[in-house]
Amino acid sequence: MRIGILGTGVVGKTLGAKLAKLGHEVRIGSRSAGGETARAWVKSAGGGSTEGTFAEASAHAELVFNCTPGMVSLEALKAAGSRNLEGKTLIDVSNPLDSSKGMPPTLSVCNTDSVGEQIQRAFPTAKVVKSLNTVTVAVMVDPSLIPGVHTMFVSGNDAKATAQVIDLLKTGFGWKEVMDLGDITAARAQEMILPLWLRLYTKLKTPNVNIRVAF
Ligand SMILES: NC(=O)c1ccc[n+]([C@@H]2O[C@H](COP(=O)([O-])OP(=O)(O)OC[C@H]3O[C@@H](n4cnc5c(N)ncnc54)[C@H](OP(=O)(O)O)[C@@H]3O)[C@@H](O)[C@H]2O)c1
Repeated sequence: MRIGILGTGVVGKTLGAKLAKLGHEVRIGSRSAGGETARAWVKSAGGGSTEGTFAEASAHAELVFNCTPGMVSLEALKAAGSRNLEGKTLIDVSNPLDSSKGMPPTLSVCNTDSVGEQIQRAFPTAKVVKSLNTVTVAVMVDPSLIPGVHTMFVSGNDAKATAQVIDLLKTGFGWKEVMDLGDITAARAQEMILPLWLRLYTKLKTPNVNIRVAF
């Protein structure tokens, strides 16, 4: 599959590398093409990987990952361009973390809205699926870093897009338990896990921590 990764931070680079390793054709996107980080990533990822602007990465893709900070994701996706996102599954892994008033960060949007919903409203023809935002990046692509079965959540308005993401999580990344929470309004709940996650990280002194849903 042709995959576009929006974001050259640790999340974009890690997801991109894993997807390239799985045999996908990955293009990583930045605000401007040809940056040092993106070029170094292309070199290390190999396998026909490329880099470009947010728009070029999205135009290339059948499937797009938003790996930008939640507070600027709409800006990044605007640069990607709604025509380049039209009809495509857009996996949103972002969190609306606001560190402007110090640590721990607060959520810049919550309770009655979320970044996932903001993106879906701004790009109504994209099929937004919220997932992966509730674990640290290494665990996203290797859930076995945490012993036992633990839960990954997905949400989105398009059943086919959600099923496509669940399949990628299970067969590509090795997730054993993926829970579909329903439409994209569930992104509020997924993003509001972050304050708990940050607290657990501080208490347990490891980022390799996740929730297991028991019922
Ligand atoms: N780190 C984790 O373990 C983890 C876990 C779960 C979820 N997340 C979420 O995943 C997302 C990515 O995290 P990260 O740490 O990899 O990201 P990051 O390093 O903070 O973000 C880097 C990307 O954001 C772009 N960017 C920065 N400011 C921008 C702006 N004003 N407009 C448009 N684009 C802008 C940068 O563009 P340039 O390339 O042009 O510089 C770069 O591509 C975040 O939402 C984070 O909360 C992270």
